[in-house]
Amino acid sequence: MNTVVDTNTAADTIAAPAPAATPAHLELQQVSLNYGQVRALQDVSLRVDTGSVVALIGANGAGKSSTLRAITGLSSVHQGQVLLNGSNVTGTPAHKLVEMGVAMVPEGRHVFPFMSIKDNLLMGAYTRADKGGIAADLERVLTRFPRLKERFSQQASSLSGGEQQMVAIGRALMAKPRLLLLDEPSLGIAPQFIRQIARTILEINRDDGVTIMLVEQNSRMALMISHYAYILATGRIELEGASRSLLDHPDIKRLYLGA
Ligand SMILES: Nc1ncnc2c1ncn2[C@@H]1O[C@H](COP(=O)(O)OP(=O)(O)OP(=O)(O)O)[C@@H](O)[C@H]1O
Ligand SMILES: [Mg+2]
Repeated sequence: MNTVVDTNTAADTIAAPAPAATPAHLELQQVSLNYGQVRALQDVSLRVDTGSVVALIGANGAGKSSTLRAITGLSSVHQGQVLLNGSNVTGTPAHKLVEMGVAMVPEGRHVFPFMSIKDNLLMGAYTRADKGGIAADLERVLTRFPRLKERFSQQASSLSGGEQQMVAIGRALMAKPRLLLLDEPSLGIAPQFIRQIARTILEINRDDGVTIMLVEQNSRMALMISHYAYILATGRIELEGASRSLLDHPDIKRLYLGA
């Protein structure tokens, strides 16, 4: 049985998010996932409420990316269900989920190094046909990330790690998602960029009304900017609760916050 620290979700933290144009509500019900004989996830249940930022925290190999792979159909779920807005989407391929408003920024960013920033961003809009909307969203992304505007025609390989992360997030935003899945956006990034990325995540949630699932090893950052959080250890949810209360939880402080 999971330990629930505080069921007061999202109510008292940060600013109230703007209502999403189309609701995006995600739920995993007792999801188990294997790689051959290796069990990566065991009975993982979690909920990402419409308009919230929910963090999934855990050490290397805890199963964080596997959870995202289960959601996006990249790995097949052995048991359990993934529900999007109440509908069973278990095993739905990633490109179909993009059309349903779910975009993912994968671990390690994966920008296209030999393509320009512009073309990297436009790749994110490949499922869309609304030219006017795409142009407007490109402008919004460039306003959000002025550094990308300055380097618009340069190859993505010429960017720093933090800038490439901006491209990866910008590319996901070009799909006009209602639910954004972020896999360790702070990984390998300098502290000043981490703060900027954290601020950007909050703005995307608050200003654009995008529901966010944030996978992180940087527990402090993730708990600071999320409403609710789940702690994953060896493929199981060990603890969950309102992020603010987890920041003060003695086990979390000791094991995940270095206090
Ligand atoms: N393709 C694979 N084949 C076999 N085992 C895998 C595969 N991918 C992941 N695993 C195993 O599944 C477990 C969970 O891995 P996962 O990548 O989900 O962890 P993670 O929490 O994302 O870790 P990290 O913080 O290092 O990214 C680990 O034990 C890992 O070795
Ligand atoms: Mg991972």
